[in-house]
Amino acid sequence: MTKFDYSDKPWWKFVYEAAGEALVDAGMKISDIKAIVLTSVSSAAGGEHQTHKVSLLSDLFKTNVPIIETPSVCGGGGVATFVANRLGFDNILVVGGEKLVDNLSEMTTDWIMSASERVLEQTEGMIFPVQNALIWQQYMEKYGATMDDLALIAYKNHQNATLNPKAYYFQRPVSLEEIKKSPVVASPLRLMDCSLSANGGAAAILTKEKTDIEIIGSGFATDYLLTFGREIITHFPSVRKAAEQAFKQAQIKPEDIDIAEIHDAFTSVELFSYEDLGFAEIGKGAELIRQGAVNLDGRLPINTSGGLKAKGHPISATGLAQIYEITNQLRGKCGERQVKKAKIGLCHNVGGAGGSATVHIIKKN
Ligand code: COA
Repeated sequence: MTKFDYSDKPWWKFVYEAAGEALVDAGMKISDIKAIVLTSVSSAAGGEHQTHKVSLLSDLFKTNVPIIETPSVCGGGGVATFVANRLGFDNILVVGGEKLVDNLSEMTTDWIMSASERVLEQTEGMIFPVQNALIWQQYMEKYGATMDDLALIAYKNHQNATLNPKAYYFQRPVSLEEIKKSPVVASPLRLMDCSLSANGGAAAILTKEKTDIEIIGSGFATDYLLTFGREIITHFPSVRKAAEQAFKQAQIKPEDIDIAEIHDAFTSVELFSYEDLGFAEIGKGAELIRQGAVNLDGRLPINTSGGLKAKGHPISATGLAQIYEITNQLRGKCGERQVKKAKIGLCHNVGGAGGSATVHIIKKN
């Protein structure tokens, strides 16, 4: 993956750089790649209006192999992995890249909002911080978690990011007090509860060859675009369904997971996802962060990369950056933020406010 930051490069440069690192890591040349799965929504807005991205990639990589595009907003990286895992080619490059931040925040926000329902939500200005604040209000009322719990999640992810050279907040610690005093964005969510929009790319190569890393479970589920048209509004049912599929395929249970990257688009999403993924009982997710179980030195370290919160969130690249972190953790290549004895990791990637979700379980052989 590239560093996640505000670098002013076109989206395909992030794709190119991330793919280059993946090829070197796999010891392959582009001629070894028999298909490419691309995820990127960057051409939807901004100055560069390019919708024939698969042809642009043919040019970029000097290849004529099939190139398949799987945009699914913030969940695109996970969906690309889900698709590639089922395609059956010998070696598949899965890659995502975005230039998300290149103009005023208002425009970036407007662009991100195109992933919400058009008639009722977009026209009412239901941006994602607002949607997630409403969900979190319901959760707090029903289950009694607090804003202090969310502050601890933000603090953990910021601490982890200080140790990740590819994270936006690398070597830039943020105190618990700064988190608790950060400005309110959509009550009660504060700036430090929101993911950090960033530019960047990430890639993985899936091969039929037996290697040290194996995807043992892969699940994908969708849900209504209209967030508040769903029956359950304190959680994301799509995540429960995707997790159920992945655990069934892997033939393991949530307690067998040693490490996870969770889609903390908002700190509240990380908290209730502990429950949707089966790491805690419904309504009890806060206990994991209060006990420190999900800290770097806890029994189930979560978001060792810094997460979307502090590593950064370049939409489609995020799901692949999760695969990158878990793979490197399982291989013992994470330097100062390396966890001990991790054999099985989980990646949880979500599109919008739970409108699509993938779960991948990865094992070190
Ligand atoms: N966490 C930490 N720092 C953040 C941040 C965040 N979420 N968002 C911005 N910053 C930092 C910027 O890096 C910048 O710092 P710098 O001056 O040291 O570089 C500073 O705050 C100002 O950035 P700016 O872009 O002007 O902030 P903003 O107030 O316009 O935007 C949010 C803040 C919360 C509105 C924006 O981050 C946001 O919308 N996040 C959610 C994105 C989203 O919904 N994604 C989809 C999820 S489903």
